[in-house]
Amino acid sequence: MVILHSQFAIRNSPFLMFPFYYQDNQLFCEQVALADVVAAVGTPVYVYSETELVARARAYVTAVSQAPIPSLACYAVKANGNVHLLRLLGQAGLGVDVTSGGELFLAQQAGISASKTIFSGVGKTAAEIEMALRAGIRALHVESEMELTAVSAIAAKLQTKARIGIRVNPNISAETHPYISTGQHSHKFGVPWARAQAMFAAAAQHDWLEPVGIAAHIGSQIRDVEPFRQAAVFLTEVADELKVQGIALRYVDVGGGLGIDYTGEGAPEIGAWITAVSEPVQAAGYELVLEPGRSIVGSAGALLMQVVYTKDQGKKQFVIVDAGMNDLLRPTLYKAYHPILPLQPSNALTHNVDIVGPICESGDWLAQERPLPPQQPGDVLAILQAGAYGFAMGSNYNGRLRPAELLISGNQYRLIRQRQQYNHLLDGM
Ligand code: LLP
Repeated sequence: MVILHSQFAIRNSPFLMFPFYYQDNQLFCEQVALADVVAAVGTPVYVYSETELVARARAYVTAVSQAPIPSLACYAVKANGNVHLLRLLGQAGLGVDVTSGGELFLAQQAGISASKTIFSGVGKTAAEIEMALRAGIRALHVESEMELTAVSAIAAKLQTKARIGIRVNPNISAETHPYISTGQHSHKFGVPWARAQAMFAAAAQHDWLEPVGIAAHIGSQIRDVEPFRQAAVFLTEVADELKVQGIALRYVDVGGGLGIDYTGEGAPEIGAWITAVSEPVQAAGYELVLEPGRSIVGSAGALLMQVVYTKDQGKKQFVIVDAGMNDLLRPTLYKAYHPILPLQPSNALTHNVDIVGPICESGDWLAQERPLPPQQPGDVLAILQAGAYGFAMGSNYNGRLRPAELLISGNQYRLIRQRQQYNHLLDGM
């Protein structure tokens, strides 16, 4: 099928704004022509704009620092755990929300202070709990009665008072993909309020536990602020109930989940989100904690990939590229749409193609029925909005080497992760 208007659509894509834009018929990131990056380091490669990343981090830090009660934005490391990016985010003033011993290790390596580190997750092991307590992190966010027992036993063994929050499941639904919606009772996350209340009471009585916060996280890639506001109101109300019982918490953590714009339909501003969630929390006198991931790093990153072959299968036209589902899992796992732009747009008519990788699965696709001008081997395409849950969800499936990562700042770029080589496939063997 030929779509006449889509060449116009490519050149007028709503995603062509800083840091990614065309100049002299070339796609740039900041002041670097991406073709130069590809010539230097090859493909597939993730590129990140330092200016965009830091601006989004600062948007959070500035908003929370203007709060009447000291507040903290903790970057959710799971979105992208590259230690160089973590260091920049820490320097910009963010804390971290970690979800494993590995992420805690990365945050420590990036110099993020323990006092700005929280640990979330339903399945923390004894070794991870001990690591966090020894590091003296700000709080462990507990998600079950059994975990509370484990934390108290380890804290007693270490003779260390464990600061804890409890993640409550607010039973609020929000529109997103079912795999990344987390705030309802059918999900494994958090505990219903009635049980959390009993856990708080037990923790407050315990010699080695100190309840300091209450948390929720209703899901990810949510583009409406209303469910977040409802969660903030709910958490504040239940924190007030605890206060009446003599348990005074310091903070209310409304989680992360603010969506970004993958499709051109828009997404709320960081400031609007913070205003919505902070009002109820601060009016009641609690410190606000946030756990944003995607909305900090998503728009800063792109995955560059090269066309290897094209293939006409009659009903479908395929563009086979050198990146696959092992490099960017989101399209096939969530049917996620990412904008894709050619590095050098042409004026040729566009055709709808499926952009697929080399992996031996029919699910190995990056875009379906996407209008593109004719592609030749060696042409390079950029997948935008790929900074969050891109590299982080990658793997070595099919013996594929994990891609390089590169940080761009102004007219400079530097490698922040080398492309794997074949001998990395023997690591630990
Ligand atoms: N806090 C907790 C407890 C979380 O579980 C998450 C994300 C976040 C914060 C950060 O949420 P964000 O601000 O990034 O939405 N792989 C999926 C996203 C999974 C999100 C898991 N939890 C994707 O690619 O869309």
